[in-house]
Amino acid sequence: MPSTSASAPGKVILFGEHAVVYGQPAIAAPVSQVQAKAVVMPNPAGGIQVAAPQIAVDSPLRELPLEHALAKAVELTLGALGVERSPGFKLRVTSTIPLAAGLGSGAAVSVAVIRAVSGFLGHPLSDKTVNELTFEIEKIHHGTPSGVDNTVVTYGLPVFFIKDQPIETFKPKRPFTLVIGDSGVPSPTSVAVGDVREARLAEPGRYQRLFDGCGQIARQARAHIEDGQVEALGPLMDRNHELLVEMDVSSPELETLVAAARQAGAWGAKLSGGGRGGNMIALVSPDGAKQIRRALQAAGAVNTITTEI
Ligand code: PMV
Repeated sequence: MPSTSASAPGKVILFGEHAVVYGQPAIAAPVSQVQAKAVVMPNPAGGIQVAAPQIAVDSPLRELPLEHALAKAVELTLGALGVERSPGFKLRVTSTIPLAAGLGSGAAVSVAVIRAVSGFLGHPLSDKTVNELTFEIEKIHHGTPSGVDNTVVTYGLPVFFIKDQPIETFKPKRPFTLVIGDSGVPSPTSVAVGDVREARLAEPGRYQRLFDGCGQIARQARAHIEDGQVEALGPLMDRNHELLVEMDVSSPELETLVAAARQAGAWGAKLSGGGRGGNMIALVSPDGAKQIRRALQAAGAVNTITTEI
């Protein structure tokens, strides 16, 4: 059996985080500048060996905990293919996607592993199955994921995502440039999501208005992306950010980065993902990216990525 490899991109949420948990649409897009990669090669000695040097894993599959995301990805793939006795192989996983930064590193690793293992066994799984299996693995990382990460990363296209509805991918009419800035503050998505849940119970009317506002913004944004009116996305990002501030999911570090991006000439900026820490995004003119990156670094960003959507 020949060696097989597969890669999957990172992702970023453009509009609608948090509101998406309550049935509003969100827009997310792949970030192909960062990738997870899985390589599967025959293991003449037999058995399945898993290596992921960046997280210090180098072990036979059967010695990994059952709930280990890599073990689960391999087991779910073998299960989906109905393989009871797999030929021996060595799986090696590497990634340039920053870990635990809201850039979809977990989903990308799962997608790459599922594709590489199923390809090696001669039965590449369909996108639909890859997406479903990745969602199962996302539950280990996120508890109750909305499903947006696995969908974007599997299809590698922008998605207009509504929980429990058929997947809608779409193509921008004109590409646009984003600079992603990492505040360097780790923030588990589940904590921010839990806090929003509690705040909504205390003030249901106010939170419903905030979520509705985010939904409206996501719908307008999709129309602008499909019409090629990319500059018009800037003010929508700014408004979405204000609604997230009112939901209390921003942080001093994110506010500093968002303000720095706007001051340096970004068309719009907002936090992205769960908030409280993690990343923000700035919409920039194609030749303005360098300046915004410098401004974000000066304002404390620990990492910046320029990507075209
Ligand atoms: O922090 P991230 O990028 O994994 O995004 C979380 C997005 C939320 O809407 C806050 C939660 C979810 O499951 O959709």
